[in-house]
Amino acid sequence: MLMAGQTDFLKTEYDELVAKSINWKLRSLQSASTPHCIVDGKEVIMLCSNNYLNLSNHPKMKRAAIEAIRKYGVGSGSVRAIAGNMEIHERLEKKIADYKHTQGALIYQTGFAANAGLIPALAGQGDVVISDELNHGSIIDGVRLCKAERKVYKHNDMGDLERVLKESASFRRRLIITDGVFSMDGDIAKMDEIVKLAEANGAMTYVDDAHGEGVLGEQGRGIGSHYKIEGKIDVEMGTFSKAFGVVGGYVAGTNDLRNFAFNKSRTWLLSGSHPPAIAAASIAAIEVMENEPRHLKKLWGNTKYFKKRLQKMGFDTGVSQTPITPVIVKESEKAKRMSEMLFEEGVFALPIVFPMVAADKARIRTMMNSGLKKEDLEKALSAFEGIGKKLGVI
Ligand SMILES: Cc1ncc(COP(=O)(O)O)c(C=O)c1O
Repeated sequence: MLMAGQTDFLKTEYDELVAKSINWKLRSLQSASTPHCIVDGKEVIMLCSNNYLNLSNHPKMKRAAIEAIRKYGVGSGSVRAIAGNMEIHERLEKKIADYKHTQGALIYQTGFAANAGLIPALAGQGDVVISDELNHGSIIDGVRLCKAERKVYKHNDMGDLERVLKESASFRRRLIITDGVFSMDGDIAKMDEIVKLAEANGAMTYVDDAHGEGVLGEQGRGIGSHYKIEGKIDVEMGTFSKAFGVVGGYVAGTNDLRNFAFNKSRTWLLSGSHPPAIAAASIAAIEVMENEPRHLKKLWGNTKYFKKRLQKMGFDTGVSQTPITPVIVKESEKAKRMSEMLFEEGVFALPIVFPMVAADKARIRTMMNSGLKKEDLEKALSAFEGIGKKLGVI
């Protein structure tokens, strides 16, 4: 055991975060994650959940989870490579592959585990990973675990990507990796151009489509469908923790990719497999995507209306093209104050400040939900307008 004194850093380092006002304060959800929910005892309009399609409350998915518990219990008992490979896991993978129009798919416990497990397997000694400068932290950590070299290109800048590709011609393998939808700004990677550059230069492509799956393209099939380049991206990674309303990561691609990934990803081999209820709810989520297009249609209708109204009021919504709409207020303190004032008026939307975004780009990040009604959007918009004026943002 550590001697008294050796753990003092726990408190001093935490106190430093508090002094700089960059510590996380957790709000507590006391209801299901619904478009109207109870947070810290207050009924609020939810504008910061990734549950874009409100599927976490879908009756078919809840029923599927309950039935799976009755049939298979609550846990799988092992990692998949030993005794925890259940037929329901394989059924989910078949369902993902059919939905994504790929040969195969492999589920991981989370999207983070997919990136942390697969990226280091794809690129090793003598290889290079070429990464967009605004990629998600789970990609950054996956790349840190690699023995490969790392090169970064300017955000969504195809000229710069081409420059890096040319510079890297001598490496054994080159892996280009990008978010599909960038989670802080809501813009979409130029995946069609990335694929062309990769083909021209003999590089592999890997997209983390965590915020694109269930949101972009036909039936929400993601960025490949959005650009009509299905089958051309080598690795499509996604998660069930966002639009699909459950939890769990996956990769979709060729059967070769699936076989390689599960034999080589340490996060897959050394960690327990999905509880059966999660696998069942995830299968049901894809069925909902295939059979109930109204959720996706409503999400985009709400998104376009909300974004346009914010812009008309004079807010800076940056480069967003998706249901992630930032309201950029610049100063961190202002973003935090705005979030608190919104909460007081019954709107739950979190501030995003440095170091998650540049120091002068602090914002409130709103995430749209298909379950919000016109009157909810009006209420939220009027709160934004009043507070924006009070704080001198508009
Ligand atoms: C772009 C991106 N990739 C990966 C992840 C991780 O996904 P998961 O929640 O399944 O671990 C997230 C979630 O925050 C994300 O936004």
